[in-house]
Amino acid sequence: MSKKAVLAFSGGLDTSVAIKWLREEYGLEVVTLTVDLGGSNSRDLGKIKKKALKLGACKAIVLDARDVFVRYFVLPALQAGAMYEGVYPLATALGRPLIAKFLAEVAEEEGAEAVAHGCTGKGNDQVRFELALQSLAPQLKVIAPLREWGMNREEEIEYAHKHDIPVEDRKKIPYSIDENLWGRSVECGALEDPWAEPPEDVWLWTKSIKDCPEKSQTIEIGIEKGVPFRINKDYKDGIEIIEKLNKLGGRHGVGRIDHVESRVVGIKSREVYEAPAAVILHSAHRALESLVMTREAMRFRDVVANQYADIIYNGHWFSALHLDLVAYVLSAQRLVTGAVKMKLLKGAATVVGRRSPLSLYQPELATYDKTDQFDHKAAEGFLKIQGLSLKTQSRVQCQIIYGTREIDLASVIPPKLKELTKGKKTC
Ligand code: ARG
Repeated sequence: MSKKAVLAFSGGLDTSVAIKWLREEYGLEVVTLTVDLGGSNSRDLGKIKKKALKLGACKAIVLDARDVFVRYFVLPALQAGAMYEGVYPLATALGRPLIAKFLAEVAEEEGAEAVAHGCTGKGNDQVRFELALQSLAPQLKVIAPLREWGMNREEEIEYAHKHDIPVEDRKKIPYSIDENLWGRSVECGALEDPWAEPPEDVWLWTKSIKDCPEKSQTIEIGIEKGVPFRINKDYKDGIEIIEKLNKLGGRHGVGRIDHVESRVVGIKSREVYEAPAAVILHSAHRALESLVMTREAMRFRDVVANQYADIIYNGHWFSALHLDLVAYVLSAQRLVTGAVKMKLLKGAATVVGRRSPLSLYQPELATYDKTDQFDHKAAEGFLKIQGLSLKTQSRVQCQIIYGTREIDLASVIPPKLKELTKGKKTC
């Protein structure tokens, strides 16, 4: 019996070519695995299966994993407030560890010695697949044909023609696109110039401002323990909420993100994302948090959110640190219950109201009218103590602090070796 590899198969050109390549170069039988994580291309799984078999896969497995994806990846990331570099809701990055997990499981079931993916050598996705696999199934060999074969695009197309692999028209879709129900990620083509405005055809889910309705739409989102469960009066599961908000937000042009991003491999790349539901839900969620969490808890929440986003982005999903952070997030989210009102209008989703049974906002403390209960007198002593260190500093150190015009950074930059050894003998 010949050896097998399980290939993560999207149905696109790269992974189609990979089926042939794994068979020819490695002499492997190929089992393909296609995982549907939703999005507009929530795919015709039957068609993809047929294609894989036609291209020579010995078995083609297709999975609708939308529910698992939302429940175990998307909603926890929302609860954690995970946005990479403050703007990217991490749709692609969240999908990879799940696909890697299924790859490892299928490999075990099929008795395969290797798994394969269609990522290149300069992207983030190879990192996510392979770090997840190293953590879950370190015994598996990983093959990355695109990284290994050294073909450029033209050679790849030529190879495809030679092997009867259908090639989609690149002129029709001049970008590299990844998509699931948490968002679309678009790169390459005209987007490679960070100065050029994204052409209108990169956007698929969101209307451009000029085509948005003139009238705003206000929606209420119900949240329990950091998880959305209701839009207006409709109670919904995670998938339904996200799909509904993608539609509603998209209609109002909400969720376009244009970002120059710091990749794991050290390069900056220009990425465009489209994620109406993620944008709406993250801002609603944060607005509710700021109602129920203290200032210190919010600060710490931001620290955790950044760390959590890095973990997802950098491919460390299956790590102890991730689970430690999850424990913190779940504990902190016990307070995050209530509702947020969002107004959607011409590209913006604005928080216009929030309420919670656990709200720390107390009208009798906040008000300036006659019902005010705040102890104004207490501020005097408070300010005396708060100001004490500043007062002392002003008295003792004022000259130095405000008198110095320049701080010379040369004092911390060591000279070059050549300068140090000038005129000296070095043996
Ligand atoms: N830059 C994003 C990330 O690293 C998206 C990459 C997705 N790939 C694509 N073909 N657009 O998560």
